[in-house]
Amino acid sequence: MEDFLIKTKGISKEFSGVRVLNNIDFELKKGEILGLIGENGAGKSTLMKIISGLYFPTEGEIFFEGEKVVINSPFVAKKLGISIIPQEFNLINHLNVYENIFLGNEKRKNKIVLDKKAMRKKTKELMNKLKTVIDPDTVIEGLSVAQKQMVEIAKALSRDSKLLILDEPTTVLTINEIEILFDLMRNLKDHGVSMVYISHKLGEVKEICDEVMILRDGNFVSKANTSKISEKEMAENMVGRVLSEVYPEKVSPDSDLCLEVKDYSVDRVLHNISFDLKKGEILGFAGLVGAGRTELAETIIGIRKKKSGELLINGEKVEIKNPLDAVNNGIGYLPEDRQGTGIITNFDLIKNTTLVSLRNYGKFIINKKKERERTREYVDEFKIRAASLKTKLEFFSGGNQQKVSLAKCLDPQPKIIIFDEPTRGIDVNAKREIYFFINDLVKKGISCIFISSELEEIIGMCNRVAVMKEGSLAGILEGEHINEKEIMYYATGVKGAA
Ligand SMILES: Nc1ncnc2c1ncn2[C@@H]1O[C@H](COP(=O)(O)OP(=O)(O)OP(=O)(O)O)[C@@H](O)[C@H]1O
Ligand SMILES: [Mg+2]
Repeated sequence: MEDFLIKTKGISKEFSGVRVLNNIDFELKKGEILGLIGENGAGKSTLMKIISGLYFPTEGEIFFEGEKVVINSPFVAKKLGISIIPQEFNLINHLNVYENIFLGNEKRKNKIVLDKKAMRKKTKELMNKLKTVIDPDTVIEGLSVAQKQMVEIAKALSRDSKLLILDEPTTVLTINEIEILFDLMRNLKDHGVSMVYISHKLGEVKEICDEVMILRDGNFVSKANTSKISEKEMAENMVGRVLSEVYPEKVSPDSDLCLEVKDYSVDRVLHNISFDLKKGEILGFAGLVGAGRTELAETIIGIRKKKSGELLINGEKVEIKNPLDAVNNGIGYLPEDRQGTGIITNFDLIKNTTLVSLRNYGKFIINKKKERERTREYVDEFKIRAASLKTKLEFFSGGNQQKVSLAKCLDPQPKIIIFDEPTRGIDVNAKREIYFFINDLVKKGISCIFISSELEEIIGMCNRVAVMKEGSLAGILEGEHINEKEIMYYATGVKGAA
């Protein structure tokens, strides 16, 4: 009996003549968890899309349970027992949770009649396994990003698979949900399921994976046992050189206040939130999923209607009723859900970059040259990997889409920026560059609200940290109080008046 579940030989992939994967061999044993890491655009998702039948390789062979297979559609992959939790959500927004989970795989009473009861029941069981409360009948549209992620995970788990591919499943999850997912993965492993785990969080890779394989520019770099390679070595193998310190030195803010939020409330979502932001300050927002951080950001920029509350910018009262008012008042917003509200995937790079700042490019006639030049600057600044400025964003890797979302948020030159998970899906090296970039912004007197589920970056970047719990502000931490333990105390209600 062949010990390997899957083996690939010489897999290559070209898109319109551009080679993005080159001669990749890899193998995965039964019950093994393989970490797959590499910079944004290294080819991780492409390799996994090939194995799950979404792309067909330009060259190469795949062997599954010892037999050569041709995986030329997702259907073939599913039949072999290969499931994927994709990097970008693949849910149908107007359908509900159970309809999405069983899409194309519906349970039926007979040939014609759907067994809705059975599907609801199974969905509930899956949610219980994930220790998540989501009603099977909720329409996807109404879910938070973290909840959508949980539905994607449930969907993959609903099929009994031999190989489960997880493409950055934890970017929007907090510690609790990540632990639940890891427990599930360990359990599946014990049942002989093999997994490929893609993540930019190298600590997670070390924790959950047996082996780690590193790709750079579509090439195989190395494979190692995770107990024998440090996070630093992983990162250096990814970028091909030695890395310097991750976080820039914190800059002290001015004492002037640039933003004051007073007594913000939204029915059932936010309760009397008050805080201020100094000029040149980075104010972090931490909390568990559902604590209300994104909702607060959306209320500030006018996506959500508030029940009460006042907003002052530079000491003057302003009324922000919609996102355009926010832009006009110098507030920029980088949304957490890049494919929902951030970018438009069937627009090209230029159109996305200037989406909210178009009027800066001419009143009646758009200055195309200026648009192109600005976009080119962002491409250089953030090292956005794009075939051309005219490439549609749907062909970008996840991390590169995130960088475009960032460029779009910065282009109107805001004075206050709300970053919601700014480094979501971004590789270690690019993260570091973004941290230094944000630090340069605050040196110029720009103020930032920094929402993140990664405590490490909150601690590394912020002057103060506001911790939210269940729609309320549990506390604001400063100086030596900014540490993981203290943040978790407030987030979970051990400390604070929430
Ligand atoms: N359908 C496509 N058409 C053209 N180019 C593509 C397509 N899909 C991927 N690419 C290109 O292939 C390269 C590898 O992309 P891939 O999505 O595999 O990267 P990744 O390693 O998953 O990166 P990330 O960490 O950002 O998710 C990128 O340069 C990307 O632009
Ligand atoms: Mg990817």
